[in-house]
Amino acid sequence: MTTAPLIDPFARPISYLRVSVTDRCDFRCVYCMAENMTFLPKKELLTLEELDRLCSAFVRMGVEKLRITGGEPLVRRDIMTFFRSMTRHLDSGALKELTVTTNGSQLARFADDLYAAGVRRINVSLDTLDDAKFADITRWGRLPQVLKGIDAAQAAGLRVKINAVALKGFNEDELFTITEWCASRDMDLTFIEVMPMGDLGNEDRLDQYWSLKDLRARLAENYTLTDLAHRTGGPARYVRAEETGQQIGFITPLTHNFCESCNRVRLTCTGELFMCLGQEDNADLRAPLRADTTSDAPLEDAIRAAIARKPKGHDFDYSRQAIAGQMTRHMSHTGG
Ligand code: GTP
Ligand code: 5AD
Ligand code: SF4
Repeated sequence: MTTAPLIDPFARPISYLRVSVTDRCDFRCVYCMAENMTFLPKKELLTLEELDRLCSAFVRMGVEKLRITGGEPLVRRDIMTFFRSMTRHLDSGALKELTVTTNGSQLARFADDLYAAGVRRINVSLDTLDDAKFADITRWGRLPQVLKGIDAAQAAGLRVKINAVALKGFNEDELFTITEWCASRDMDLTFIEVMPMGDLGNEDRLDQYWSLKDLRARLAENYTLTDLAHRTGGPARYVRAEETGQQIGFITPLTHNFCESCNRVRLTCTGELFMCLGQEDNADLRAPLRADTTSDAPLEDAIRAAIARKPKGHDFDYSRQAIAGQMTRHMSHTGG
């Protein structure tokens, strides 16, 4: 049974739900987490059954794209049970895409299971191809493990997109190495502007900020870039590099605000719904979910009330050499 679709106050239909299934991660990327994060006690987490009920409610209300995120989603115990339970929405045609954003560390274990559950496309976060730099930026990560994971994903038939956060003085010198590596393996590539999330020293983030306007100009020195109309339902805008034939995406929350076409909301692993990545406002969906275990009516009412509060956009701004619109929340809380 379907119900009226979700439309926000700015007439944007909400068709994309990002679900963070855990706040934990086996890495500690510097722009995402503090080194000594305190994690939520397990009893705070939604159970896999509750996640299923919540996601199914959103699918009934018109969500067509579900992206599972974290922390690192594949470190949550028994998470494949949840993926398999979402397969029925793909089979019914209500859900068009089930996908995941991962750091790649567990892909060697789970790639085949993801494919079997109906996942066809995954995004893997990877900012550098240098072992030492990788260990630096992720603090706890090891590059060879991730590369093995990517091999396994491609062998399983999953289409892989690499997400690289553009960091000045860090991966600037690898722009062409990363681009060519992706082309040689037939992987798409998206660059992301670093956003001011978490409590990790303002100055650092400003120093690291590498605008994708500049990055694109650098790419254009070696490649002919053609703008593409292609959209994945995410915020990236794509170009084709004619010399390699590959698709390159740019996610530019700072240089080009794409909020006007926002179609997504984010659910955390405790059932908070964030209507915008760059705002503090959130709605508790766990209470209405647990208040009535026989009917989803209170839950659906709470979802509609939350969507009615979706703000116009974020306030991130690095101009005037200072950071505005910063979020104290870490990126790992909502999974990007
Ligand atoms: P595709 O389906 O491949 O288009 O995925 P996607 O870009 O929607 O998802 P992905 O998890 O790869 O997102 C990459 C990153 O883009 C996120 O982790 C965020 O850092 C950023 N991002 C995604 N959506 C938004 C958004 O609504 N606002 C802002 N400011 N950043 C976003
Ligand atoms: N700014 C931009 N992107 C970020 N990510 C994590 N933290 C930030 C940040 N502060 C990215 C990761 C991953 C996705 C989930 O979000 O690299 O690709
Ligand atoms: Fe973990 Fe991803 Fe955050 Fe890195 S960006 S710490 S891999 S959740």
